[in-house]
Amino acid sequence: MTTKVDRHVFVIFGGTGDLARRKLIPSLYRLITENDIADRCVLLGVASGDLDDDAYRAWARRALEDAGLEDLDLESWCDDNVHYQQLTREAPSYDEVRRRIEAIEADHELPGNRAFYLALPPPVFPTAITGLGDAGLNESPGWTRLVIEKPIGTDLESARKLNEVVHEFFDESQVYRIDHYLGKETVQNLLSFRFANPMFESVWNRDRVESIEITVAEDLGVGTRAGYYESAGALRDMVQNHLTQILALVAMEPPISFDADQIRTEKVKVIEAIAPIRRENIVYGQYEAGEIDGTAVPGYLHEDGVAPESRIPTFVGLKLEVDTWRWRGVPFYLRTGKRLPKRLTQIAVTFQRPPLCIFHGHRDSCVVDPNVLLITLQPDEGFTLSFNVKAPGETFALDSQLLSFSHSDVYGRFPDAYQTLILDVIEGDQTLFVRSDEVDASWRLYDPLLDYHPEPYRYEAGTWGPATLDSSLALGGKAWTGDDSIE
Ligand code: NDP
Ligand code: BG6
Repeated sequence: MTTKVDRHVFVIFGGTGDLARRKLIPSLYRLITENDIADRCVLLGVASGDLDDDAYRAWARRALEDAGLEDLDLESWCDDNVHYQQLTREAPSYDEVRRRIEAIEADHELPGNRAFYLALPPPVFPTAITGLGDAGLNESPGWTRLVIEKPIGTDLESARKLNEVVHEFFDESQVYRIDHYLGKETVQNLLSFRFANPMFESVWNRDRVESIEITVAEDLGVGTRAGYYESAGALRDMVQNHLTQILALVAMEPPISFDADQIRTEKVKVIEAIAPIRRENIVYGQYEAGEIDGTAVPGYLHEDGVAPESRIPTFVGLKLEVDTWRWRGVPFYLRTGKRLPKRLTQIAVTFQRPPLCIFHGHRDSCVVDPNVLLITLQPDEGFTLSFNVKAPGETFALDSQLLSFSHSDVYGRFPDAYQTLILDVIEGDQTLFVRSDEVDASWRLYDPLLDYHPEPYRYEAGTWGPATLDSSLALGGKAWTGDDSIE
């Protein structure tokens, strides 16, 4: 049970959309139930449809049932605390929304704390933020918080424009930019792993680490989202945000305290220190028809809504360097793709081999395998550290073995990322949200690559991306560490 939640109204603009239905309403409901705060949270859905409160309550109930929450006490929260306000697309009246919020606050005797979650199509963000500001909804008798969904802009210029609009009406301390990867329990666990275990921190540097790989693999294809994906591609959709955020947490210096701004300041420094990425160090791929888990799946070019000659990459592999005192010279390899063999988010830290091999006769060439730390962020969250032991027998042969820890064996189910993030919004903790200078730094890094559209290498769905030879050339002749252990 948390005690930090003030009584508030949680307003979802785009309250009838896919995100609201699949993620926001179920997460909100779970956190209300688990923290016993039903009396502190009133939901107002806003969208253009002509619905009344009852119709929206029925819609929200179905969303909860679809999320498998039917056995919880849905009725009372939905009946008492869920409301709906229409906001037409043609003539949106934010003044009307403000009057509705004030009426709800009067009815529920709320002190004027308000969270505005923009679950809207990205092109609508500036209009919605301006609408809120013009209607005076950027201020309230209590706190006011603005939540913006990814993507924050489609390039440096549009991201800056969006941040300008935001800052015209809202102070940065009111703004919560979502990158849902930061809400994943295991992504946050990177901080405790690094900064609560000095044993690892003392070897977390160029003196001991040979390379770091970050993989975000999905078995899903583009699904029904081609309209968006055709103008985004894997670099904008995954690398600029999720992978870069993971990289920042892996490479950052210890913050002076566990404070939102201290942590975010250290993350920005990492992103700003990344050397310009060379085009020859990037491999783009696009999936062709193949099989995943025994089921045939179409190629990207045959997905609904994809242009027949599209060059949009569904796979990116790249090498970059974080030019800091700690990391100078250590290559970081990032890869992400759709229709890879399985869903897997993993960080592989490969440590340096011993400077001298004293075990003559071991595997003829006397090569000692490096220690590799695999941090799996999803789906089987945990850590694995490989280390060398002497294999039993008369000759001195080395064998690589694993020390493993699985989160689910110990802790069971994790909260959904959105549940964590929404709770942070209503508790006012910005640690897991992206600050405007982080967004800017990230776009400054990737913006110069946005006009690079080589013909992507094709890869068969269900494989680990473009042929190893092609990708390894760009990636320094290196095979991916995770592959052997994850295939
Ligand atoms: P949907 O298209 O499913 O829903 C959009 C919502 O916005 C609807 O409630 C719609 O209501 C409302 N809306 C208001 N004005 C407009 C307008 N001018 N044009 C279209 N819709 C409008 O989108 P999602 O819920 O999928 O996505 C919402 C946001 O969340 C986007 O920014 C997306 O990038 C982001 N996101 C979504 C994820 C997901 O899993 N769905 C994952 C990560 C991010 P009405 O139709 O009544 O107007
Ligand atoms: C979203 C991307 O941000 O993250 C999607 O837009 C991607 O393309 C999704 O599928 C992956 O999220 P998760 O939580 O399933 O790893």
